[in-house]
Amino acid sequence: MGLKNKLSLENKKNFNICVIGAGHVGLVVSAGLAKLGHRVVCVDNNRKKIALLKRLSLIFFEPGLESLVREGVKRGRLYFSYNLAEAIKNSEVIFIAVGTPPKEDGSVDLTSIENVCRVIAQNLNSYKVIIEKSTVPVHTGEKVKETISRYKKKNVTFDVVSNPEFLREGKAVYDFFNPSRIVLGVESQRAEKILRAIYKSLKTTILVSDINTAELIKHACNSFLATKLSFINAISRICDLAGADVERVAEGMGLDPRIGRDFLRAGVGFGGFCLPKDIDAFIHISKKLGYDFSLLKEVKKINQEQKSYFVEKIKEYLWVLKDKRIAVFGLSFKPGTDDMRFSPSIDIIESLVKEKALLFLYDPQAIGEAKKVFSGLATKKIKFFKEPYSAVKECDCLCILTEWEEFSRLNFKKIKFLMRYPLIADGRNFLDKEKLERLGFKYIGIGR
Ligand code: UDX
Repeated sequence: MGLKNKLSLENKKNFNICVIGAGHVGLVVSAGLAKLGHRVVCVDNNRKKIALLKRLSLIFFEPGLESLVREGVKRGRLYFSYNLAEAIKNSEVIFIAVGTPPKEDGSVDLTSIENVCRVIAQNLNSYKVIIEKSTVPVHTGEKVKETISRYKKKNVTFDVVSNPEFLREGKAVYDFFNPSRIVLGVESQRAEKILRAIYKSLKTTILVSDINTAELIKHACNSFLATKLSFINAISRICDLAGADVERVAEGMGLDPRIGRDFLRAGVGFGGFCLPKDIDAFIHISKKLGYDFSLLKEVKKINQEQKSYFVEKIKEYLWVLKDKRIAVFGLSFKPGTDDMRFSPSIDIIESLVKEKALLFLYDPQAIGEAKKVFSGLATKKIKFFKEPYSAVKECDCLCILTEWEEFSRLNFKKIKFLMRYPLIADGRNFLDKEKLERLGFKYIGIGR
């Protein structure tokens, strides 16, 4: 590899990119990079997933993603493949977006990252930039570098970059094109220049640091967001005890620009595949480094308690839950997604089943995923519905666990008529409490 090749890569505008992993992060990044003008091959070792993607069929719901994928494929900029070796050889830039699932002890399973690094090493036929996109523990970049150096056959150079994703599920496409910042953990000016060129058309602040710092920024962000949520959820408990309204408290707090209004919605707690596993991982990593992050342990505890608190509140009204008919609307961990991973609905529904309640479940997108998640439970006690009104028939309580916009447009007069007892437990403080009470409902909120 001569100087000529080296210079030409740094001065390119569009790159041949390989994205490894076609999950929530990898697919959005692939389609997003294709839209920015790069030629992207998205690789996954799940043949079924790739076969579906080749037919332009997505296996999860993410607003705007399907049309973005279609556009990329139509323009000849986005491809799907399970041939990782070939994709690596043909690429100048490689994004690693494989899964980093949690282990029992809260640490992160990095097996997929290590496997991928070995395949990259074996197929490293020219200088390449290798980018960690998955959320990984601090020091993973060092391990990636060590592994690739150890297994590479040829005398070629490479750079490792940490470029953490800050994509929210349900808004991931928007977040890709409108990032609040781009964090680049780099070790060489060459890699920095290439990364800047890749993201050139995204107008935002680019923060450059070393790799360890970039990895830590990601831990710090998700942990801080989780802390903010558990803080307002703790305040919600005090509001219930003191007879105050957490919504107004949050408003009053959020008007202070040092605090900000976002992430101050009290409710049944946070879920999803990022915040819960990321705080576990950060607690674990901190301990390994020699610091007891007790604050995060408390954040986790408050989040867990919020779900049992909600069930207790329902019990206060309905007393014994055995054979009570409870409708649950909103099963995914938040609106705009069908993702059930670590959704608060799982713990809440399990508790209600334990109390022998009869459950009638509805979600605008997540019924398919929910059926898989609850397949192990006493299925005779759970029924799934395709539309909300049949689900509430003869129910003693309607629980709202996710703030899907369509729930605010429901015909509550009709719902009151259909229910056996007009009790609404709003786990997201999302509905209009006064309006529901005027209609004759008993309303349970969180801290209001
Ligand atoms: C999060 C981070 O926001 C994102 O930057 C990171 O890249 C991935 O993890 P995500 O998991 O998609 O994104 O969900 P997010 O929108 O952050 O919500 C997380 C959880 O917090 C959800 O269960 C949501 O319902 C809950 N939440 C959020 C609240 O309970 N109250 C709020 O005010 C905000």
